[in-house]
Amino acid sequence: MRRLLIAGNWKMNLTAAESQALAGALRKDLDRDAARLGRDRDVMVAPPAVNIPAVARELYGSSIGLGAQNMHFEDRGAFTGEVSAPMLKEFGVVYVILGHSERRHIFGERDEFINRKVLTALRHGMTPILCVGETGSEHDRGETSTVVLRQLQRGLDQVPEGELARVAIAYEPVWAIGTGRNATPGEAGIVHGAIREALRDRSGAVADQVRILYGGSVTADNVDSLVGHPDIDGVLVGGASLKAESFARIARTGIA
Ligand code: 13P
Repeated sequence: MRRLLIAGNWKMNLTAAESQALAGALRKDLDRDAARLGRDRDVMVAPPAVNIPAVARELYGSSIGLGAQNMHFEDRGAFTGEVSAPMLKEFGVVYVILGHSERRHIFGERDEFINRKVLTALRHGMTPILCVGETGSEHDRGETSTVVLRQLQRGLDQVPEGELARVAIAYEPVWAIGTGRNATPGEAGIVHGAIREALRDRSGAVADQVRILYGGSVTADNVDSLVGHPDIDGVLVGGASLKAESFARIARTGIA
């Protein structure tokens, strides 16, 4: 059985003080249940890079893992404004979100670039969360699986079969992000199934170990039905991860 992954992406929200307060509140709430939650799921948050040290201090020794929203593929060098894997690892960052649609569509990141980041994350023992997803117009033109499987294949180029299980995939349809209009479990499940099939074609049985998350307008109200779908192995949450109460509720999905 695959462990669930419940991931909060704070995007460009919260100051360091606010990030620390949110992390503290989450820890207080979720660490009470750490043994039960830890049986079948991982929970993590990805604060803005500059707030990682404050959140790392707050979460030290907690059951809540720490993630980054992006990183460069080189370890160091003349890359103004960028952050590298060794810098993140020093603060205990384990997860890194890569190829988020906002990186692709606002900052022009291409598949080849994202692929290099995935390989770097694996080289450093981190867990890459590779995001894929079609835009609203691609969706309307019936191009969802073409777009998603192309992003998947290119994003995973040269990832050895032995390392594939360490990668998580997040299917985030762009039309569902921040819109309040989530994909239904059935809609997402079809895409997740296609992703799983493509992973099997590529790498065989190890594909069954890869976690495929859904992201896009996930809330405390819709998480149970999404994660209840057998092909949905967790969620990547934006807006609803910015409040301790809603994210803690999401993290407890399926637990009475
Ligand atoms: P929302 O949950 O705010 O729709 O954002 C989803 C997302 O982009 C998470 O990475």
